[in-house]
Amino acid sequence: MNDSMKEHWDEIYEALDADELTWYEEIPESSIKLLSECRINKDESILDVGAGASTFVDYLINQGFSNIIATDISEIALNKIKERLGKEKASLVRWIVDDITQPIHIRNLRDIAVWHDRAVLHFLLEEDQQKMYLSTLKRGIKKGGYVIIATFSLKGAKKCSGLNVKNYDQNMLAEFLGEDFSLLDYFDYTHYMPSGQPRPYVYVLFQRLE
Ligand SMILES: C[S@@+](CC[C@H](N)C(=O)[O-])C[C@H]1O[C@@H](n2cnc3c(N)ncnc32)[C@H](O)[C@@H]1O
Repeated sequence: MNDSMKEHWDEIYEALDADELTWYEEIPESSIKLLSECRINKDESILDVGAGASTFVDYLINQGFSNIIATDISEIALNKIKERLGKEKASLVRWIVDDITQPIHIRNLRDIAVWHDRAVLHFLLEEDQQKMYLSTLKRGIKKGGYVIIATFSLKGAKKCSGLNVKNYDQNMLAEFLGEDFSLLDYFDYTHYMPSGQPRPYVYVLFQRLE
């Protein structure tokens, strides 16, 4: 676990309510759109990497998905989702505090049908971190499984919450995932922060080949 990163994110989630975060979405509509293109059953495994305090988990529960895993480096972040959901709904989710750049528990996951990452990969600036992310993804995802990734686009911000980011487009993400993954869909999407300022993202959907 990268302790300084954990502290960084814990401090942010301690200081702000979920809806004050610059990346907050009341309804994660782009993730929902791409998920709707995935042909999966409700009992298949969906992993939200760097879930933070995101409402995507709430959406999945309300839609009846029964095999949800939410993971983040910040336990404080995940606790915000748990509190919002309440005990009964929170018990339907598997919660994992782990660092995607030095994973211990996520590394053991298998048969993931959907790997969902909104605004996490772009924080991994070191090649070693990106390699670990990719190898964990490849170990965990089942054949025919899906990958939904959203990052700041090439037109997007160069920093988020005080950290530098790496900007991507769909071609860079295709190159990153490699030839085992087929690009099914992608689009640019402008997220508006609570301040009203725009944040351009690129969203991609890949499928792992059989
Ligand atoms: C910009 S937020 C996005 C949160 C959420 N995906 C969303 O869309 O609301 C980035 C998230 O990634 C998490 N994160 C950052 N680095 C991480 C790492 N190395 N491993 C796991 N989570 C990480 C942070 O704690 C934070 O919750």
